[in-house]
Amino acid sequence: METVALSTPVGDKAGRYAELLPQLAALFDGEPDLVANLANATAALRECVPAASWIGFYIAKRGELVLGPFQGKVACVRIALGRGVCGTAAAEQRTMIIPDVDKFPGHIACDAGSRSEIVVPIVRGGVVVAVLDLDSYELAAFDEIDDAGLAPIAELLSTLAW
Ligand code: SME
Repeated sequence: METVALSTPVGDKAGRYAELLPQLAALFDGEPDLVANLANATAALRECVPAASWIGFYIAKRGELVLGPFQGKVACVRIALGRGVCGTAAAEQRTMIIPDVDKFPGHIACDAGSRSEIVVPIVRGGVVVAVLDLDSYELAAFDEIDDAGLAPIAELLSTLAW
């Protein structure tokens, strides 16, 4: 069995995402198990994104989103497509950056402390297989740098065994 040692990304936010991408690719290489790969992805992202209070996946199953591997507090298990930030990102197949969750109508508050959020859909063959959700206790924690950094990570994640 191969041991993979991940170094904690350093540097600015864009640089940290750039460093994380090949680390994730190395982590997934040769490992077919989806849950194991998603679980490790959340742990690696936690190191990379210190502003995030919660990082995890909601997986598309039979027309709804179901909680997958995550790092953080216990969270809502099922989200209907089109509901909340996650359901909207999935239904519209677009990344949602919410600087102030209190101003997003329909935001689903799994943790009352959450202030801002980014949700990135993972699309495979034109179909959303999951969303990657990052929450923060800080207002406006996520911006276009996170969007640009997470986009190739979502693409890499789309190649896993969904
Ligand atoms: N806030 C999300 C729900 C998921 S939790 O944040 C983990 C939403 O509105 O979709």
